[in-house]
Amino acid sequence: MTTNAKSAIPNHVAMIMDGNGRWAKQRKLTRIKGHTEGAKAVRSVVRTCRNDGVKFLTLYAFSVANWSRPRPEVRALMTLLADFASKEKVELREKGIRLSVVGEIDELPTFARRAIESAIEYTAGGEEMTLSLALSYGGRRDIVHAAKAIAAQARAGLLLPEDIDESFLRAQLSTRALPDVDLLIRTSGESRMSDFLLYEAAYAELLFLPIMWPEMNEDVLRQAFEWFANRERRFGLTTQQLRSSSLPLDANGQPLSAGAMGENLSRSFDPEDSRDEITPQPSDTRCSEAVPEGTV
Ligand code: FPP
Repeated sequence: MTTNAKSAIPNHVAMIMDGNGRWAKQRKLTRIKGHTEGAKAVRSVVRTCRNDGVKFLTLYAFSVANWSRPRPEVRALMTLLADFASKEKVELREKGIRLSVVGEIDELPTFARRAIESAIEYTAGGEEMTLSLALSYGGRRDIVHAAKAIAAQARAGLLLPEDIDESFLRAQLSTRALPDVDLLIRTSGESRMSDFLLYEAAYAELLFLPIMWPEMNEDVLRQAFEWFANRERRFGLTTQQLRSSSLPLDANGQPLSAGAMGENLSRSFDPEDSRDEITPQPSDTRCSEAVPEGTV
C-alpha cells in the first residue's frame, strides 16, 4: 500500500457481500458451498481491516429480505454465523476487535442468537476495531422504527418537534453507536444499495467491484483503500472550501461529519457569497472509474 493510502484509511468501511451464489454456480457447486467460501473471505477481510487501521467494519450478513430464501439456505447461513461467532471470538478478543450487531438479533433462531450474543459479551472490551454484523437488517425498517420511537416520545409529551435534529434521529437507529460510513464496497458487479445503511452512507464513497464475494481478499481490499485515498470528499462543498484551513476536520483529516458541518456552515451561510457555488455543475464522472486496477 502507498504512503498516501496508509494515511487515509477509511474510518468506517461497510460491505455488501454479494455473489456467493453466482461464485458457486460458476463452479457447479451448491449455493451453500458459496456461502461457506464467503465466510472464509469474511475472516480475511476482518484481519486486513484490523491490521490496516479501519476502526469500524460493518458487514451485511443477512437482510430482512433474506428471510424469504429457501429454508435450507437460511438455516445454512444461520449455522455459518453461529460458527463464525463461536470459532472466531477468541481471535477477535486477542486482536482487540469488538463484535456488535445492527438490525434485529432477536429475530434470529435461538442457537445463532446465543452464539452471537456470547461473542459480543466476550469481545466487549475490544478497542482496536468494531466489527458489526447487519443481521435481519433493513435500512428502511430501521428508519421506520426510529420514527415510531420518536412519535411515542412525542405522544408522551417528552419531545417537541424542534428537539428533533439529525443526531436525535441517529440516536434512535440500531446503528446509533456507529459513525457515518466512509467507504461502502459491494461485490458481484451489482451497483445497488439493497436497503443497506441508507441513512448512514449518505456521504460514503461507493465502490462496486466486479468480483464475487468469495474472491474478496487482502489484495483487493488494499486496492480499494488506494482508490479511496484518491477520492476528493467534498461533502457538498467546493475544492477551494475544502482546502481552506478554517474548516473543522476529523481525526482522519476529513471535514467533520456532513451533518455537523452543515450545522456549522448554515450558521455562517451568506447566499450572496455562495451564488456561484450553488449553480448546478456538470454531473460528476466518478462512476466510470469506480473499479480499482487489477480487479477486472
Ligand atoms: C449474498 O450473496 C450473500 C448473503 C445473503 C449472505 C452473506 C453471508 C456470508 C458471506 C457468509 C456468512 C457470514 C459471516 C459474517 C460469517 P448471494 O447469495 O445473494 O449471491 P448471488 O447473488 O450470487 O446469488
